[in-house]
Amino acid sequence: MQTEHKIIIANSQQMPELKDSSIPLMVTSPPYPMIKMWDTHFSKINPQIATLQQELEATGKDATVTQIYKAMHETLAKTWCETYRVLTEGGIACINIGDATRTVNDKFRLFPNHSRIIEHCEHVGFTTLPYILWKKPTTKPKYKGKGAFLGSGFLPPNAYVTLDCEFILIFRKGKLRRFPPNDPRRYESAFTKKQRDEWFTQIWDITGTRQTTSQHERRIAAYPEEIANRLIRMFSVKGDTVLDPFLGSGTTVKLAMQNDRNSVGYETDATLLPMIKKKTAAQSPTCKLKVMKR
Ligand SMILES: C[S@@+](CC[C@H](N)C(=O)[O-])C[C@H]1O[C@@H](n2cnc3c(N)ncnc32)[C@H](O)[C@@H]1O
Repeated sequence: MQTEHKIIIANSQQMPELKDSSIPLMVTSPPYPMIKMWDTHFSKINPQIATLQQELEATGKDATVTQIYKAMHETLAKTWCETYRVLTEGGIACINIGDATRTVNDKFRLFPNHSRIIEHCEHVGFTTLPYILWKKPTTKPKYKGKGAFLGSGFLPPNAYVTLDCEFILIFRKGKLRRFPPNDPRRYESAFTKKQRDEWFTQIWDITGTRQTTSQHERRIAAYPEEIANRLIRMFSVKGDTVLDPFLGSGTTVKLAMQNDRNSVGYETDATLLPMIKKKTAAQSPTCKLKVMKR
């Protein structure tokens, strides 16, 4: 099947290239609020966050941390709102997100990103569906958010539970998607019983899959191809278009290509283009890739 793939180097808070109600599936993983590696990125996209971060350095106030957390989610929410506009009735949005922990002024805090995103997406109009917990390759338990679980880490009650799961949140716009009776696209896109049993359970143990292939992909926290593969096959049919508003290294586009879906990816960082092109090259001669800059 001939498929088309567009990479748009632009901020997905606005997606004027996409018509209202035109995309049946969004699969993505945004920058994670309150995870240090994304601080600079959020400051660039939203100057209010840069100001708050300077204020935090100067004052160390806990209330400023809360304001930064709020502003980061408001920044992401603009993309959730725009996604709602472009999704079709019955369209699905899948968001991979991890919670974050941070110690500021000796105070350890959890930032439950998954629940903030659910609140924002419901506010935009989405219906929340049962979500998936992705059990990540094991990390060592931590003591007070730092170092290994050693020494007094064996003594109750001051150790913390390790964040070794991420969330794959699933939302729907409007009512169930409808197809004409006996629509062949659904039958051609069917999964096997083994796949259904494995994919439609709440805990995905994808520890066996190598998470990323290169250091560069680790730097932008690429997700395992198996995650994009499953979500695309679970929530779209052949010939559909899959949107990723936070494209990163291009994993979603690659898996859309492999599954006979069209795709559109937005990415602000133009320096990722060579990696995206390399990752999506040679999937199939029937996949047409177009790069646009706004
Ligand atoms: C966690 S990474 C995505 C990783 C991706 N799932 C993969 O497998 O490579 C998030 C990406 O979103 C991009 N990004 C952040 N905010 C954006 C925005 N508003 N519009 C478009 N891209 C954005 C970042 O530059 C980063 O590459």
